[in-house]
Amino acid sequence: AIDIKTLRASSGMITIDPGFKNTGSCESAITFLDGEKGILRYRGYSIEELAEKAEFLEVAYLLIFGELPNQEQLANFHKDIKAESHVDEEMKKILDGFPKSAHPMGVLSSLTSALIAFNPASVNVSSEKEMYGAIVRILAKFPVLVAWTLRKKKGLPLDYGDDNLGYVENIHKMMFKKPNQEYKSNKLVIEALDKLLILHADHEQNCSTSTVRIVGSSHAGLFASLSAGISALWGPLHGGANQAVLEMLEAIEKDGGDTKKYMAKAKDKNDPFRLMGFGHRVYKNFDPRAKIIKKAADDVLGDMGIDDPILEIAKGLEKEALEDQYFVDRKLYPNVDFYSGIIYRALGIPTEMFTVMFALGRLPGWIAQWREMRLKNEPIGRPRQVYIGENARAFVAVEKRK
Ligand code: ACO
Repeated sequence: AIDIKTLRASSGMITIDPGFKNTGSCESAITFLDGEKGILRYRGYSIEELAEKAEFLEVAYLLIFGELPNQEQLANFHKDIKAESHVDEEMKKILDGFPKSAHPMGVLSSLTSALIAFNPASVNVSSEKEMYGAIVRILAKFPVLVAWTLRKKKGLPLDYGDDNLGYVENIHKMMFKKPNQEYKSNKLVIEALDKLLILHADHEQNCSTSTVRIVGSSHAGLFASLSAGISALWGPLHGGANQAVLEMLEAIEKDGGDTKKYMAKAKDKNDPFRLMGFGHRVYKNFDPRAKIIKKAADDVLGDMGIDDPILEIAKGLEKEALEDQYFVDRKLYPNVDFYSGIIYRALGIPTEMFTVMFALGRLPGWIAQWREMRLKNEPIGRPRQVYIGENARAFVAVEKRK
């Protein structure tokens, strides 16, 4: 719905568009999204084709630099990333300072910010060459931070990666390798993880990406912008929904699996409960990512021989919602977060880490958007307001106040 007000201010006309529902913040050549038709493309390539045929690192390159890499470009990109995979040992002390109960998203955001202190060369970058340096540095170090965040939760020693492995396989190893045990790779798991990361890699001007662009527009630096993006992603109305979905499905299961009861709650305007993983600001049709993830959930659980009652509850909720007038009228469909948690759970990733996995996937998108914004020399993001507070009034001394 268009809900824009235009107001006259001393400096001219100002548009008030709550939630920026109809306001474009930039021109971008990265991701195309048609919410009515359910189309999503990265740099012109359909998400369906990329999820099926490409690898995450190729997609990262595509998003950031605009074209799919040839073999040599991909090999060099990977080599440059591997060369930066060390994270300063002092960072372990910072991680140590967090209680074990700390939410991984808070830890990750803090660690990403802390990384700036150990990589000052990544802050004031403006040339393409300097940008490239900062980009490969964060693509290398961020997975280490993700793995450490998980390992700290699990009480496992903090290790580094294995340069002989592919990008995603290395991430998996860093996360799950047990001390004194040989790491066993699983093709199915790596492929599922790769696909999930691709599906999350970019989604144009969503809340976290807009945050990255606006923080970056002050020239605060890539890592600082990313740290802010991680915080924005954390919220349950955005990336935090994947954790919230799984917790909701578990609660429904515990409560006897009565999906109708929860559908009724979601429709009750006096009840704050929302059907998590449903609805989207832009998609008024199926989220194409949700379709792919639903199929992947079926495939992965089937191949792994997992019979998870939660998948059945999710499918039941989807079926009911698609036939329910409330959801039909409001064009509420499952979004990317509805089925992703079921796969993460099957892969052995703890619920609290789900949004961290989203951040890992979104990293190339955030980088691409930040780079585009800087290369286009966009001005500092600085929205206006319409003041509705008190007029000028005289100060009253504290003892005279009522
Ligand atoms: N359950 C029940 N009702 C809903 C839901 C839901 N999940 N989502 C929207 N609605 C209703 C609203 O109550 C509103 O109803 P009304 O017109 O009677 O007042 C109408 O649908 C429109 O909803 P808004 O909140 O105005 O839509 P908005 O575009 O601002 O919000 C959002 C989109 C935040 C995604 C919302 O649908 C939501 O909260 N969904 C659940 C959380 C979620 O899954 N977030 C992940 C989004 S995907 C991502 O960020 C990666």
